[in-house]
Amino acid sequence: MDWYQYQWLVYGWMAVGLCTFFYLFRVKAPFGRHTRLGWGPVVDNRLGWIVMEATVLVVLLAVMATASGSLDMPVRIMLGFFVAHYLHRSMIYPWFLRTSGKKMPMAIVLSAMGFNVVNGFLLGYFFSHFADYPADWFKDARFWTGSVVFVAGAALNIHTDYALIRLRKPGETGYRIPVGGWFDRVSCPNHLGEILEWTGFAVLTWSLPGLAFAFWTFANLAPRAWAHHQWYKAQFPDYPARRKALIPALW
Ligand SMILES: NC(=O)c1ccc[n+]([C@@H]2O[C@H](COP(=O)([O-])OP(=O)(O)OC[C@H]3O[C@@H](n4cnc5c(N)ncnc54)[C@H](OP(=O)(O)O)[C@@H]3O)[C@@H](O)[C@H]2O)c1
Repeated sequence: MDWYQYQWLVYGWMAVGLCTFFYLFRVKAPFGRHTRLGWGPVVDNRLGWIVMEATVLVVLLAVMATASGSLDMPVRIMLGFFVAHYLHRSMIYPWFLRTSGKKMPMAIVLSAMGFNVVNGFLLGYFFSHFADYPADWFKDARFWTGSVVFVAGAALNIHTDYALIRLRKPGETGYRIPVGGWFDRVSCPNHLGEILEWTGFAVLTWSLPGLAFAFWTFANLAPRAWAHHQWYKAQFPDYPARRKALIPALW
């Protein structure tokens, strides 16, 4: 595949992401608190997380294995950011979930795997076939700015994910109102952190597949944050009225 064909593939993928964005405002993705009947067979929630999120690592590494020659240092660092995130998401995060007895529809696992196959392929193909960064890319403002945003987003994402998980005692499955820190501003700071993280990755890689991934992350998580926010307000009459869904003070 040449660069021209590759670009059109990525643009097509982003068009699918745009459709997904609007679809997810109409149909809440049925996992976590939005799980409901009618979505076919189900699997163990923890197993679902491991399988669907490990997929991207398998695909990315398989595509990278087709690369000829050694990788430049900037590409190695970029891959390091990506792999660190997904090692945590697929191998560590699922084991901390207080998810006893919870199930996830197979349809969610398969659709997330589909997303991860395409995303892993596009990023892996870019890094192994087209990426051509100067050796001093580390001094470029795009690299530094993107790296700071990536790390800040990852810190927010991880910190607030684990704060949410700790709202339950082991064995519990219900929900409480999260309070303190970023939770006083928005209902879903963990989703905000993830969006910031991949926006930073798009900037530090200054790449089309990086942009597509950030766009898809927003397309997946903005509707989910909105659904969570409406759910909190419906479940808890005392839910803080000033709190926004995803973007402090705005939305
Ligand atoms: N890049 C992407 O496109 C993408 C897509 C989806 C998710 N993600 C990431 O994956 C992670 C998990 O996503 P998610 O949508 O499942 O997050 P979530 O709905 O906020 O749930 C995170 C964890 O905390 C628990 N939890 C959440 N709110 C709670 C509350 N009020 N009281 C008690 N427990 C609560 C959830 O339990 P339950 O599962 O039982 O609700 C779950 O175990 C996030 O970091 C997200 O950014 C990324």
